[in-house]
Amino acid sequence: MTDAPAELIERLKAHNQSHVLTGWNALGTAQRASFAAQLSAIDFRELEQHFAQAKKPVEPPQSGHVAPLPVAPAVASPHERALGEEALRRGEVAGLIVAGGQGSRLGFEKPKGMYPVGPVSGATLFQVHAEKILAVSRRYGKPVPFLVMTSPATDVETRAYFRDNLFFGLAESDVIFFEQGTMPAVCSRTGRLLLEAPGKLALSPNGHGGTITALAERGVLRELQRRGVKHVYYFQVDNPLLKICDAGFVGQHVAARSEASSKVVFKERPEEKVGVFALIDGKCGMIEYSDLPKELAGVRDADGQLTYRAGNPAIHLFTVEFLDRITSTGGLAYHVARKAVPHFDPEAGKPIDPAGELNGLKFERFIFDALPLAERWLAVETSRAEEFAPLKNATGADSPATVRDAQIALHSGWLSAAGVPTHKHPIEISPLFALDADELKRKLPGGFRVTGPTYLE
Ligand code: UD1
Repeated sequence: MTDAPAELIERLKAHNQSHVLTGWNALGTAQRASFAAQLSAIDFRELEQHFAQAKKPVEPPQSGHVAPLPVAPAVASPHERALGEEALRRGEVAGLIVAGGQGSRLGFEKPKGMYPVGPVSGATLFQVHAEKILAVSRRYGKPVPFLVMTSPATDVETRAYFRDNLFFGLAESDVIFFEQGTMPAVCSRTGRLLLEAPGKLALSPNGHGGTITALAERGVLRELQRRGVKHVYYFQVDNPLLKICDAGFVGQHVAARSEASSKVVFKERPEEKVGVFALIDGKCGMIEYSDLPKELAGVRDADGQLTYRAGNPAIHLFTVEFLDRITSTGGLAYHVARKAVPHFDPEAGKPIDPAGELNGLKFERFIFDALPLAERWLAVETSRAEEFAPLKNATGADSPATVRDAQIALHSGWLSAAGVPTHKHPIEISPLFALDADELKRKLPGGFRVTGPTYLE
């Protein structure tokens, strides 16, 4: 017999979740309170719907409903660029980094943003991104609010890291941290809740699509509206090459009166692990790499290029008005992932090691599910060499070595364009020194020479 509150017992019983209360009597007062709070936050009807959905096979995109997405060329016109610069000068653009992930795949058990990537300086991902935001705000004379989305696993360490580094020169009030939401993991056979430990649910971050609801729930959208911010520049923590809030892209987005604009990197190989933009029933949508049927991935145009080549570097620009509209309609749908989830079995009274068995279901929202909801959208090509070098794996593709090489290649190219040979030495340019090749050329002292590994800061 448990002495849990009667209402909680009834609610759990009605949803076949009473097992979680086994062991309740042995919990301390504080543990009971936090466990009851976790349980009362769950919408069991919704969870049951997600579980039912997980049993249905994922429908591959149906031919006849899918077509390649039209992509605008990378170069903004002078008029578009001017529009972007004006928006930045008016302080209408904020940067948003999704940084809920840890560097586990890299064998780095800290927030991924703390991973050192600077080829010469050893600057971390967070430092590179923060310096870009600072450089943009200096260039246009207006603060660019830096929104940092964390997860329960990264929140405390990320905030402390920024504080210890004096926010990398940004004003503390312009760095706005907010934590994403979580979803409970359930047993893949029964749909019953899994526990991490006695009196504690196994929760996991609700995906980067949780950004949108978290922005609203944590009051960030309201704060952006208060500051007169109209556009949010969304990017992932893992890509040090990206341009942030570049005036050309902002201007193309403004000129098109787009609600959701995305950069596109053309895929080189069918098996490359990037999502693919497509027109789905006439709307801009995304097919995740794991869902792209082989027949579609390998189709080629007459000129030999992949037909579905519009790869996703995860760089988007959303209007605040659009984000606000999505949150008021309940947020994005959930995707289901089967995972091995170590957990505590309250009935057996012991921890369970799944030993690789995909015993659990986790539920995640994806940011790109927002794209088809936009009334006006835009996709713009960008060059991989200039903007996409994600850090995903410890070795091989998308690893520290490839990310290092990509940064050196880009920055060496800027120096060469300024007439300075690099003699193959590693080169790194801090965003605070130059954000692009033109700025570098203007700032380089006369007679500048490279004689060894070089960090311009
Ligand atoms: C992602 C995209 C893929 C794209 C690729 C580009 C998905 C499902 N796929 O793949 O289409 O081509 O990036 O590099 O996203 N994050 C959170 N909270 C979460 C989950 C993720 O903040 O709950 C953040 C991570 O910190 C990271 C980003 O989202 O910054 C991407 O997550 P990751 O799992 O690395 O995505 P990929 O599978 O590599």
